[in-house]
Order: sequence, then structure tokens, then C-alpha cells
Amino acid sequence: MTERLRLDNTNKLYNEALELIPGAILGIRRPYNFVQGEYPIFFDKAKGGRVIDVDGNEYIDMLCAYGPIIIGHREEEIDEAVIKQIRDKGFCFSLTQPCQNILAEKLRQLIPCCEKSVFVKTGSDATTAAVRIARAYTERTKIIRCGYHGWHDWCVEVKGGVPEKIYEDVLEIEYNNLQQLEELVQKIGKDTAAIVITPLGHPLANKVEAPNEGYLQGVKKIAEDNGIVLIFDEIRTGFRVSLGGAQELFGVTPHLATFGKAMANGYSISAVVGKQEIMDVLVEKVFLSSTFFPNSIAQIAALKTIEILERDNVLQVVSEKGRRFGQKIEQILQKTKIPAEFSGMPWMPFITFKSDPEKKYRTYRTEFYKYLIRNKVFLQPYHHGYIAYRHTVEDLNYTVATIQKAFQYLESMKI
Ligand SMILES: Cc1ncc(COP(=O)(O)O)c(C=O)c1O
Repeated sequence: MTERLRLDNTNKLYNEALELIPGAILGIRRPYNFVQGEYPIFFDKAKGGRVIDVDGNEYIDMLCAYGPIIIGHREEEIDEAVIKQIRDKGFCFSLTQPCQNILAEKLRQLIPCCEKSVFVKTGSDATTAAVRIARAYTERTKIIRCGYHGWHDWCVEVKGGVPEKIYEDVLEIEYNNLQQLEELVQKIGKDTAAIVITPLGHPLANKVEAPNEGYLQGVKKIAEDNGIVLIFDEIRTGFRVSLGGAQELFGVTPHLATFGKAMANGYSISAVVGKQEIMDVLVEKVFLSSTFFPNSIAQIAALKTIEILERDNVLQVVSEKGRRFGQKIEQILQKTKIPAEFSGMPWMPFITFKSDPEKKYRTYRTEFYKYLIRNKVFLQPYHHGYIAYRHTVEDLNYTVATIQKAFQYLESMKI
């Protein structure tokens, strides 16, 4: 096993942060989400598909900021467009700038369900706005949901600080379980405003799932038969699996959808898009406004990102890279005796370990990801990774070779 990384600066900053910020770091970036004591906690900079921590360790970045980095870090054309906007025009005004319309028109061209759109900042903003829109449109209360939709009160998984009445009308279903949805809708369909699902299943620490044959179509039919708004949460799939999202890829058009993450290659913007009739509750019935929502920096970044995605066929290249990468990982898994599984091909690669009564899988997981980080491959033990356009063939080959050696290391251990 390679030696533990030097993380002196990371540890110093972490101890400093403990005094300044509750828990030092927010949410999913906290050390316990990785292998504690082995992973860096602070990054310094990044370029393309590589990221460098505050101790100067350079990694292949296979987590891509949890999804926004679709092209690569510090993509010059995008940053230049943003800098030009800042220098020549400014971006924070009391009124809206025209690039709003250009971006809305672009989304209308690309996304099947998009007749109108609104721009907000984060994925949580977008899913929360979509739910409010659906409730206002249907004048119903209940929400059926599947997947992670963010930190807001209606869907947050850790319930501290959230009154029960806020989420008592929100019911969770399993991905790919149409029967469960049917039974639930039979009971509460008349009171249900929206079904919110991620078009790909990606539960934390579990395999990424593609929709079963007919699943998304079935969900849509149940929604339409019962007057329920179908919302696709495309925060992860949007501007990654296809320019029009998973709805285009799978040929199932929801009534509303949310986009974020990869939409602007790291700049903070998200969108709710959908059918005009539903979206138009925002004209009078629903209030949606925030000081920074119309800020144009991220709109400019989104326009430039989408221009590059279209011009350079980025998403085809990403899925081709992901497919080749995934095939090599599958070959490794076929040969190893370690009970591991691979999912998420081609866009969201994830290696998970099969659970067993003796809980050996936990040791496998810890040792496997420890091996990767020590060898400068940055992946998360509980979350799938992502493929970026700027990952080079060498980056991906190195990652494959390191994964292969990590399995050899596991095989050599007495667990
Ligand atoms: C499917 C999905 N929806 C919503 C969100 C929330 O987005 P954000 O973290 O930008 O608020 C996420 C974030 O990971 C997500 O993956």
C-alpha cells in the first residue's frame, strides 16, 4: 500500500475551521463522507480534469464538484465570457438583463417539456419552486417523491429543525417500483399535486439505476390519469446525459423539470422549465423572487457552456469516454473475487460493495477508497463519480489501472 498522503495544511485549515464554522465544513463535503484522515478536506485549485489540494497533492478529479463540472475546471472560453460581462456590462442590477431571454429561448429549443422557464440559483431552489408551482396549479397539497431533491424543508432527509407538518404531505417512493406508486396513488391520488422523480435512480451509497422498460412511461400515465403534475428532477441528468436531459434520452416528456449542476459548468444557476399552462401560475398566483436570481454571470456562463456542449459534441464524447471507462471496470470486476458491483455507466460511474452479514463490505469500501486517494484518484465512497469532457485518455486509463491495483490490494488482505 502506498503511504498516507501528506495533509498538514488540510488538517491545519480544518482545525481552524472547527473554531469558525459549525462542523468546520457543510454537509456532504465533511470528512466522514470520505475516508476520514486519508482524504484532503480543502482544495486549492483545479484545471481540466485535475484538482490540487492545499498540500499540493494533485488528483484525477472523478467527482467533478458533485456534478457541475461537465466540461472541465477553469474552462477558459466560459470564464472569458463571464469576465467580459463583468468588465463590459456588470451583472447585478435592479432590472433584468437581456441574456435572460436568450437563455430561455435556448432551453425551449433543447428541452422537450420546456415551453417556459425561470432561473434560480441552486438545485434546491429549483425543486422547491417546481413543487410550489405544481401545488398552485393543481390546488392540491400532497407530493410523491423519489430521489434527493436538496436541503429545503419539504424534502430534506435529516429532519432536525423542520416541523412535521411541513413534510407530512410528502411521501417517498422507491425508484423503479411502479406497483408501489400505483397503490399510493389509488389512496391519495386526488390530493396529490406532483410526482417528483429523478429519471435515473441514484440513491446515496447505492447503485445508480436506469429506468426499467416502461417505468417512466408508467409513471407519466399514472400522473396524467390522476391529474397530477409530473416533475422530472434533472439536476444530475440535465446537460449531462443529453442536451434535452433524460426526458429526451428516454423519450418521456414530463410536465415540469428542474435543471442545475452541469448547466453552467460550475457557475451557480438552475432552472424550472415546463408546460406554459402550468408555469404561468407564476404570473400572478405564485411569488418567486430573490435578490440574486436575475444575476447575469451564471446566465452568461450557461449560454457559453451550452454553446460549447453543442458545438463540440461534448455530451457524446463524455458518454463515449464513460462507456469505455465502464467497460474496463466491468472487466476488472469480472476477474476479481471481491464482491463488488459497478453501475452508472456511462455518465456516473460508481463502484459499490455487496453488503454481507459480517459487514466485510464496509472494510472493503474503506480500504478500496483509501487506496484510490493515496494514489491520487479522487472518488467518493458513498456517491457515484462523474466523467468530464476534459478527462484525458491518460487520466481515465490511470484511474482504471489504479482501480485494478486497488482490487489486487483488497485480494491480498485478510478480511
Ligand atoms: C437530483 C438532485 N436534485 C436536487 C439537488 C439539490 O441541488 P443543490 O445541491 O444545487 O441545491 C441535487 C443535489 O445533489 C440533486 O442531485
